[in-house]
Amino acid sequence: MDSANSPTLNAFSSRNILITGTTGFVGKVVLEKLLRSVPTIGKIYLLIRGNSTNPTARERFQNEVATSSIFDTLKARDPQRFEELCDEKLCFITGELTEPNFSLSDPEFHQLAQKIDLIINSAASVNFREPLDQALQTNTLSLHTIIKLANMKKAPVVHVSTCYVNGFNTGVMQEDTVCPKHGGINRSVHGHFDVAPVIAQLQSRIAVVNSRHKNRKERERAQINLGIAASTQYGWNDTYTFTKWLGEQVLAQQLRGQTLTIVRPSIVESTLQEPAPGWIEGVKVADAIILAYAREKVTFFPGNKDGIIDIIPADLVANSIILGGAEALTATPEHRIYQCSSSHCNPIPIKQVIKHVQDEAMQNFAQYKNLFLRKPKRPFIMVPNALFRTVMGLAYNLLSIRSSILTRMGVTVSSAKMANLETAMKLAIIFSFYTQPRYTFSNEKLCALAERMGEQDKRQFPVDGSLIEWGQYLQKIHLAGLDQYSLAPKKAKPKQKQVRKQTEAA
Ligand SMILES: NC(=O)c1ccc[n+]([C@@H]2O[C@H](COP(=O)([O-])OP(=O)(O)OC[C@H]3O[C@@H](n4cnc5c(N)ncnc54)[C@H](OP(=O)(O)O)[C@@H]3O)[C@@H](O)[C@H]2O)c1
Repeated sequence: MDSANSPTLNAFSSRNILITGTTGFVGKVVLEKLLRSVPTIGKIYLLIRGNSTNPTARERFQNEVATSSIFDTLKARDPQRFEELCDEKLCFITGELTEPNFSLSDPEFHQLAQKIDLIINSAASVNFREPLDQALQTNTLSLHTIIKLANMKKAPVVHVSTCYVNGFNTGVMQEDTVCPKHGGINRSVHGHFDVAPVIAQLQSRIAVVNSRHKNRKERERAQINLGIAASTQYGWNDTYTFTKWLGEQVLAQQLRGQTLTIVRPSIVESTLQEPAPGWIEGVKVADAIILAYAREKVTFFPGNKDGIIDIIPADLVANSIILGGAEALTATPEHRIYQCSSSHCNPIPIKQVIKHVQDEAMQNFAQYKNLFLRKPKRPFIMVPNALFRTVMGLAYNLLSIRSSILTRMGVTVSSAKMANLETAMKLAIIFSFYTQPRYTFSNEKLCALAERMGEQDKRQFPVDGSLIEWGQYLQKIHLAGLDQYSLAPKKAKPKQKQVRKQTEAA
């Protein structure tokens, strides 16, 4: 690739960056693309926390990241080169985001700050119903340490947020600061919201809950409930999106006068093209429902079938983060917000998504051995929320009565139907807000950024949701990707080749 015509390659030239969240879905796609397509980059510092199996960042990278099928394309080109790239480019920082200094010593933290030119913060707790204390730590309070790091050398920050910080707002959501739907939080003259009093209040409510519940499980349940109650009070559906919105405000307030780019993806799904069409990891939001249908656990779900759902392939998200990073490295210090989304530029109603998935399931189920048990017997139906609740309530009561009568008569009762109802109800509690969308997300500013970067970067780093051809993507790319990557039976781990030793943190 010709770097002379690529502002992106030029911007990253010899620049060192720190990325968080590379053991996760989006972070892996960003890292792979940087390694494969941005050869000019300096060092890439990976902040990864240790776990019981792999206590250091390096070990987690070797055993959980480098082994991922996301790198198959790079390895297929030249396995030796992949190892060389890892050796040349990667530095490992074992760090816990929520600890002071990411659990590094003061000198280590200081040295790290001196080395990096850009921070890409992709780490987050993405559980919609996380206990409030944990979600607040990860999605909001940990940003103070990102800010501290950025401030030491005035490094620009690219922060990965979510389009769904829109909360209960409806209509066309612009790439701008979101006003809480329910008010009660003051807006500063600089545009962001003054969330310090809200965070202080949340912390005292968290402390009260903790003092009331000594039992760990009960405490956790109470923190989940507190998260939902506080979120809905201020105008959000769940703890995840509320704490992510709080995080945006903390960054906006404390990085005033510096470069901050917030990239908000919508629902991130399998890649459109790169490094391979359909690459995906784990079972994401919409896929939990597709999987429950494929496994014949759920055939109807609450939602508005005419609502416009916003799905965006992971490679377009990674490219948006990279273009945002290139701009942040070179443009004037400013705050910018980009939405990587499809609902405004290439809208697809939920009923159309259902039709594509269902048609493919009925016609070609046998091609997806890991996804479909057999040809689905029933269609997937979307019904209004109130109807769903009534039918589920009735079905649950009838099944309970039948089961208790049969049990009393000494007949063994299969619990499969009851379990299916419970699966549908659990999924509905978590996701039904997202299947009744009353908003779309504009991506005009993101597309304008891509235009500014010129033709070569537009081709190399596509970001625009209007590139998706929905039938082809949902049927031939996404379902195939789910089957091939997310649901494939786990292979025995190949013997690890050592990624050669590199300087540890700082
Ligand atoms: N996936 C989506 O549909 C979607 C949609 C919109 C926005 N986003 C945003 O995209 C970003 C990435 O999401 P994702 O889907 O990649 O999530 P993910 O797969 O769950 O990955 C989360 C990453 O964050 C790391 N992390 C969490 N807590 C940490 C901590 N305390 N210290 C260090 N690392 C920590 C995780 O590390 P461990 O492996 O150690 O847990 C993991 O690498 C998030 O900011 C999310 O809000 C995602």
